[in-house]
Amino acid sequence: MTNNDILLHAEGIHKTYSGKTEPVNVLQGVDIAIHRDDITAIVGASGSGKSTLLHILGGLDRPDKGTIRFRKNDIAQMDDEALARFRNRNIGFVFQFHHLLPEFTALENVFMPGLIAGKPMPEIRKRAEHLLDETGLKDRMDHRPTELSGGEQQRVAVARALMNEPEIIMADEPTGNLDERNTEKLLDLLLALKTKEGTAIVLITHDYRIAGITPSVYELKEGKLTANKVNHS
Ligand SMILES: Nc1ncnc2c1ncn2[C@@H]1O[C@H](COP(=O)(O)OP(=O)(O)OP(=O)(O)O)[C@@H](O)[C@H]1O
Ligand SMILES: [Mg+2]
Repeated sequence: MTNNDILLHAEGIHKTYSGKTEPVNVLQGVDIAIHRDDITAIVGASGSGKSTLLHILGGLDRPDKGTIRFRKNDIAQMDDEALARFRNRNIGFVFQFHHLLPEFTALENVFMPGLIAGKPMPEIRKRAEHLLDETGLKDRMDHRPTELSGGEQQRVAVARALMNEPEIIMADEPTGNLDERNTEKLLDLLLALKTKEGTAIVLITHDYRIAGITPSVYELKEGKLTANKVNHS
């Protein structure tokens, strides 16, 4: 691995929530480098700041201090509109609760990011069908989220995250609500997609067993991130 393989580089990230309550110093100088084609797990106790960090790395939220470089772009410096466009084209998100749009079918949910990107309908429909096929949902394309199982909903969310061929997928506890069989299925899917589509993956999990199968593992504790296992073979 060389510096040229670094896709996302965050340095000196600080984040404090201050509202009506006592300020919460969640991130206190976090540094992380995500490599291309890598799968990185971030573990940590509940409340340690994993979701906060993922949202900041993915440009869904802003740090109080620090830089986040995605290739040459400092995403912390972009205005809201530029950032939204950047996210749509470069980053795919998978959340713990799938966040699918209930009034749309699986197919429509998957092609939505393509529609937002302004791509032509025949092209996005074809890609969405292909992705649903790849994720084992060929026969469920016209189902709405409530007509899908939890594992199927999460696979639709993965397909949607891949729609615009992002360079990185950010997944926040994507298996948090799945049983063991579906957890395994979703992980296999993510690993296969990483190989096939060459997408980097950042996987947040509090399941240390899952972290055991990824090459890089970081632990978030007391506002700092430490490398637990880095095995770039
Ligand atoms: N908007 C907010 N305002 C104030 N405090 C917040 C806010 N969002 C999160 N927090 C606090 O910041 C801390 C980190 O929250 P975060 O959601 O990042 O944790 P997490 O590691 O993802 O936890 P979990 O594993 O339970 O999802 C928590 O203690 C939480 O209470
Ligand atoms: Mg969380």
